[in-house]
Amino acid sequence: MTKKDKIKVLFVASEVAPFSKTGGLGDVAGSLPSALRARDADARVVFPKYKTIKPETIEKIEFVTEFTVHLSWRSQPARVYSVPDPNDGAPAYLIENDFYFGRDGLYGYGDDFERFAFFSKAAVEMLSHINFKANILHFNDWQTGLGCTYLRDIYKGFTFYSGMKSLFTIHNLHYQGVFNREVLWSVGLDDGYYTGGTLEFYKNVSFLKAGVVHSDAVLTVSQTYAEEIQTPKFGYGMDGLLWKRGLEGRLLGIGNGIDTKANDPATDKRIYVNYDKTSLKKKRENKYRLQEQLGLPVGDMPMISMVTRLVDQKGIDIIDVAQRELFSKDIQFVMIGTGEGRYERMFWNYASWYPQKVRANICFDDTLATRIYAASDLFLMPSKYEPGGLGQLFAMCYGSVPIVRQTGGLADTVRHFNPATGQGNGFVFKDYDASGLMWAVNEALTLYGTDKWETVITNGMSEDFSWNKSAGEYLQLYEKILHS
Ligand code: GLC
Repeated sequence: MTKKDKIKVLFVASEVAPFSKTGGLGDVAGSLPSALRARDADARVVFPKYKTIKPETIEKIEFVTEFTVHLSWRSQPARVYSVPDPNDGAPAYLIENDFYFGRDGLYGYGDDFERFAFFSKAAVEMLSHINFKANILHFNDWQTGLGCTYLRDIYKGFTFYSGMKSLFTIHNLHYQGVFNREVLWSVGLDDGYYTGGTLEFYKNVSFLKAGVVHSDAVLTVSQTYAEEIQTPKFGYGMDGLLWKRGLEGRLLGIGNGIDTKANDPATDKRIYVNYDKTSLKKKRENKYRLQEQLGLPVGDMPMISMVTRLVDQKGIDIIDVAQRELFSKDIQFVMIGTGEGRYERMFWNYASWYPQKVRANICFDDTLATRIYAASDLFLMPSKYEPGGLGQLFAMCYGSVPIVRQTGGLADTVRHFNPATGQGNGFVFKDYDASGLMWAVNEALTLYGTDKWETVITNGMSEDFSWNKSAGEYLQLYEKILHS
């Protein structure tokens, strides 16, 4: 590659917002490629054409090409389409196969191993059909782990692919794509891949491990998480392997950015009243309006919010231990999110036990979520572990001060406020327990209403959480991989 050539990147992900999204991966895959393009890379994204994609988001879809993907005995057609990326109109690719993706959900099927092996292979195969000679294939999470194996052991044998390198990002190590040994055969790999140095993982096979061992470099979404996953506590059985990749200098962390244009309280049409850090009185209007909308008493008491998936990772169980003490305070608590039944019921219960204080919105509603960020004073994210975390970034953009546990991306982005120096953008506790959580809540409530309160809000609102900084780090990493 000469200096003036643009670096070419294919970003491979199982979900891409706004087309499909179940979590933070969708947000990242939906905003990072355009941020890289803004820095003059030719980055393109590819994802499955699920039945659940809303037709209005792919109105301008165009057929590109069609080919057959062979996985063991099964040969299936892959039809490639392109749609303009909503950020800048560049082509985003979809792979259609109704047998695999014409279903009511994204994940959770008995043949997920085959569905995502197909997608990963089709994504790599697609490059030669659309004549996009990528320098870097950037795979994400277990669903695309096998792409690293297919590239390394099959496609690199062809001239078109020979110089290509791969990067594998772990957005969440907990989801490892573990299947029994027999699936190797059905995804077109032989028993030679059932070894400690390849895909074997505690007597099963792991697709995430494929990404870890067969990529040119492994990335996670914060520096702290990159450190944490090399230890048994956070490593989910993969820490030894990750530590080894770390020693080779091939395990790194780059913090996530968010789309700060779409999430700017000064212009966002989803919220009731626009404001910025110089007009925080108007932020208060948002609180009153949300209180009205949700039928809560209207007033200036501190409002704590959560916008979250209701899963173990998010620290919901320590809230349950703290709940009596938490709701004995003069606060309001508004949450939105869905997930495990026991946690949905837990918040339903709080709402019925504390009707003057708690509202539980057990749903997924982008507008309401944004209104909650804008209305609330404090944003609670007591995660057990958190690879990157986007909620705390959205919260700070809207001037909702985060209360977080010191782990992963939360540790990298939230700094405990020090009233003496006026430094810090939130409240941070260390130990994963109810007393740690309540200590941080009390710190926050003590500051609320004092003349320092606006300082902690504006410190958060003044940060740059755009992709600007990280996109530069990504490009440096791509170059480094390319020349290694
Ligand atoms: C996963 C992680 C989250 C991260 C996101 C995007 O959802 O749980 O911490 O921010 O991926 O990388």
